[in-house]
Amino acid sequence: MIIERVTGEALRRHIPDLARLRIEIFRAWPYLYEGDEAYERKYLETYLRSSRSVVVLALDGERVVGASTALPLEDEADYVTAPFAARGLDIARFFYFGESVLDPAYRGRGIGVRFFEERESHARGFGTFEAACFCAVQRPDDHPAKPGDYVPLDAFWTRRGFAKDPSLVTHFAWRDLGETAETEKPMAFWFKRL
Ligand SMILES: CC(C)(COP(=O)(O)OP(=O)(O)OC[C@H]1O[C@@H](n2cnc3c(N)ncnc32)[C@H](O)[C@@H]1OP(=O)(O)O)[C@@H](O)C(=O)NCCC(=O)NCCS
Repeated sequence: MIIERVTGEALRRHIPDLARLRIEIFRAWPYLYEGDEAYERKYLETYLRSSRSVVVLALDGERVVGASTALPLEDEADYVTAPFAARGLDIARFFYFGESVLDPAYRGRGIGVRFFEERESHARGFGTFEAACFCAVQRPDDHPAKPGDYVPLDAFWTRRGFAKDPSLVTHFAWRDLGETAETEKPMAFWFKRL
């Protein structure tokens, strides 16, 4: 396995891999994302526009089996930055972690931990960011699609040094599996000092 950081224009050629992984992996609980190529193009364009974004790739030979993304919060869309602005927080101080997606066959060997280490190291490298943050979808506990054996990632994120601030919430809209229209999901933010 090779873990590789990709930045700048070099990101472009990996966009189809990222879209493919997001569509495959985010079908599962708690995302239930009904993959949408147009949504993916718009979402991933943000990473191409940002000069300080990073994608960490997990490669098995030539094949991309996992990826993890991050960029300065100020380069993110308004619906991500809005709760920070509403609270008077300076968005220039935060580095935003987008997602980690890994083929299930490659889980449990520390790649998820590396994804955090690589993104934190990338963010620290600029010397201007005080904290890393990400947001996670909040689904009702009694949701009919929730698998009985689901283990939430909260403990994993806590071990990475992040803490949830349930008072800082935004909403992302996407189309759930089997639905005809997009619906808004509450997304709660997690933080770690860099
Ligand atoms: C999140 C994700 C990338 C983690 O990948 P991973 O490479 O399996 O994670 P790691 O091997 O680094 O292990 C992470 C932790 O889970 C534990 N773990 C790994 N496999 C495990 C298993 N089969 N059973 C129990 N615990 C396990 C590890 O011990 C580690 O614990 P630690 O926090 O004490 O170090 C992966 O699970 C994934 O793609 N999930 C679906 C998408 C998702 O939810 N992404 C996150 C939000 S965008």
